[in-house]
Amino acid sequence: MSQRKPIVAGNWKMNGSVELVEEISSKVLSQIEEKASLIVFPPAMLLSSAIEKGFVTGTQTVSENNSGAFTGETSAELAKQLGAEFSLVGHSERRSLFGESNEVVAKKFSKAQENALTPILCVGETESQRESGETEQVVAEQIKAVIEHSGIASLSNSVIAYEPVWAIGTGKTASPEQAQAVHKFIRDMIAEYDGHIANELRILYGGSVNDSNSDLLFAQPDIDGGLIGGASLKADAFLSIYKSAL
Ligand code: G3P
Repeated sequence: MSQRKPIVAGNWKMNGSVELVEEISSKVLSQIEEKASLIVFPPAMLLSSAIEKGFVTGTQTVSENNSGAFTGETSAELAKQLGAEFSLVGHSERRSLFGESNEVVAKKFSKAQENALTPILCVGETESQRESGETEQVVAEQIKAVIEHSGIASLSNSVIAYEPVWAIGTGKTASPEQAQAVHKFIRDMIAEYDGHIANELRILYGGSVNDSNSDLLFAQPDIDGGLIGGASLKADAFLSIYKSAL
């Protein structure tokens, strides 16, 4: 683990309940230490409950628009008013199920920042892209779309999550070495623009992280914590993953 303050973030996706907010808050919040941050990304309907319980929170996406006739969208401005501090942008499920292109993700990244939410930009390759040796190119394009839209300085107030699509919800985690190699590639690529920003940037790993693999993953020099899906819905596992980052 580097000098960068690690983050363990739970992406609940469209799961959870008021009772789960209660259960996880009572088991986990008293264990939080200054050394590592814990963030939850509950479904939008549970954001207020999570904030009231004392979680640092974020939204799972934001609209690229400010306000208006956009039924069902999540407003960055309103999320901020509610007390959210972060937003995921470009999660692979948003890219694949809701057709978000790199350009749309870049607009969402910028809308989050405009409203003082810290974006966590999710990037990662599919299994076939990995097999054809395209991992670095895919990840670089996903990040460059944001740099082209908002400039390199915008990355200084953001986090990147590397989530190989083939590892999400499959139980097939990237090995610590595989994950470290892509994290280092991302950091080196950003260093070509700005060494200081690259050095300060938190890069999280996501994809089938659990309480048995988190120690080794988080021990890698360029892995600054994790973005956890399924295991963040179980209080004991989530807490134990958090402790791996301390
Ligand atoms: O954003 C977290 C994620 O997509 C990983 O999910 O269930 O594989 O930990 P999971």
